[in-house]
Amino acid sequence: VPSARIAPSMLSSDFANLASEAKRMLECGADWLHMDIMVCHFVPNLTIGAPVIQSLRKHTDAFLDCHLMVTNPSDYVAPFAQAGASGFTFHIEVVKDEWKDLLKSIKSAGMQAGVALRPGTSVEQIFPLVEGEEHVDMVLVMTVEPGFGGQKFIPEMMTKVNILRKKFPWLHIEVDGGLGPSTIEEAAKAGANCIVAGSSVFGSQDPAGVISLLRSKVQD
Ligand code: DX5
Ligand code: ZN
Repeated sequence: VPSARIAPSMLSSDFANLASEAKRMLECGADWLHMDIMVCHFVPNLTIGAPVIQSLRKHTDAFLDCHLMVTNPSDYVAPFAQAGASGFTFHIEVVKDEWKDLLKSIKSAGMQAGVALRPGTSVEQIFPLVEGEEHVDMVLVMTVEPGFGGQKFIPEMMTKVNILRKKFPWLHIEVDGGLGPSTIEEAAKAGANCIVAGSSVFGSQDPAGVISLLRSKVQD
């Protein structure tokens, strides 16, 4: 099982001070920075795009874990790679057979590839993307409906994490939504190793303490 990656969601940061917020999170022990890309399709919210990734990249060499909540991910591969994205995670709900080409283009652009599934999407749908010769590096199991920070963790999603961990011991399994001190044990026990946390980290007086607590549960 791969080791812990604690990824604060920059959606909960002060976007007007993104570079210093990123620096602060890395100093607090973050492994990755989770970047939520929303464009009012697929989810009813609007956040940031490649220009902001490019600006942030000038201030940090951290792993930028980009979660693309968009209906046309292939249009974003080249701009995000050029901007300096490290990981590119698209949603299974928006791709049909073209996932193979999408995967190839993500990897040949030098990014790690991930596939995300909404709460209502069955885990079996992503097996081919993990089993193939050309496969994703990570599966993102959404533990809330994507679109907004600060929602309540859906514990039923741990069934998916369990299935994935049993079947693919080597896989990065990321959970996103409602993760914090009160939900981390359940997620870690199911086998998640990449932990996205927005409001629980940014809303805390002691973000370093929250990050180290999250890490300690994953590594138990
Ligand atoms: C929701 C985003 C999450 C969100 C998590 O659509 O994908 O990354 O920022 O925020 P919290 O940790 O507050 O649930
Ligand atoms: Zn996310």
